[in-house]
Amino acid sequence: MNIKDTANHYGFISRLNHWLGALIVIGMLAVGLYFNDMPRGDEKSYWLKLHIGVGGLFFVFLWFRVFWRVFTQSPQAFEQKKTLKRLTQIVHWVLLLSVLIMALSGPFLIWSRGAPINVFDWFSIPSPMGKMPDFHELMEEVHAIVAKVLLVSIIIHTLAVIKHRFIDKDQLLSRMVKFLRK
Ligand code: HEM
Ligand code: HEM
Repeated sequence: MNIKDTANHYGFISRLNHWLGALIVIGMLAVGLYFNDMPRGDEKSYWLKLHIGVGGLFFVFLWFRVFWRVFTQSPQAFEQKKTLKRLTQIVHWVLLLSVLIMALSGPFLIWSRGAPINVFDWFSIPSPMGKMPDFHELMEEVHAIVAKVLLVSIIIHTLAVIKHRFIDKDQLLSRMVKFLRK
């Protein structure tokens, strides 16, 4: 089993990062968009607590996921038309940057309120800073705006994978899913 990426396939760490990361990001996005417009109350508090608990457990993993992709060797770009190669590259970098921004702005919007990140009342991660109301507002805005950028790029990314699988019928998905390899 390849731990690291090869010229044509993603290795174990990248695949784990990708699929665990995708699960967390899609879940966080769904929960965030769901509670966002709710009036204050028990139901909103329940979903917000879940969002913060999962976020507190995984934000360092999300930093690592992006760090690994940026600082280790990845497979060559998938063979396709030059414009599509370029577009794929742009969407992947927008996804990575958006994940990093979400995983930074989330914790910092809590910490800049002077509050700790409470992970399901098991433990909490104390704030490394005092109250910073302006920075808190900036982080809140960044978190809300980048969530929309992330949503649009995930839709484009998923549609592209579906096109490769069912229209082009090529091997792109197998680069990220080991059991599909021939
Ligand atoms: C990729 C990861 C994440 C995604 C996709 C995500 C998504 C969202 C979304 C869509 C909202 C609603 C935003 C709005 O329109 O106002 C939200 C709010 C929130 N998120 Fe996240 N989030 C992520 C990570 C985190 C992390 C790691 C934390 C903290 C540990 C966090 C803490 C919060 C908090 C406290 C709110 C409520 C903000 C407010 O009161 O306005 N998020 N998130
Ligand atoms: C069901 C949803 C998804 C499917 C089917 C899927 C599938 C794939 C496939 C097949 C590749 C390899 C592309 C290539 O070889 O050029 C890939 C790469 C990538 N995907 Fe996804 N993906 C999904 C969700 C996500 C989500 C939610 C994110 C981020 C939030 C994401 C971020 C990335 C990134 C950044 C890459 C580039 C390689 C890497 O950094 O790991 N994907 N995806």
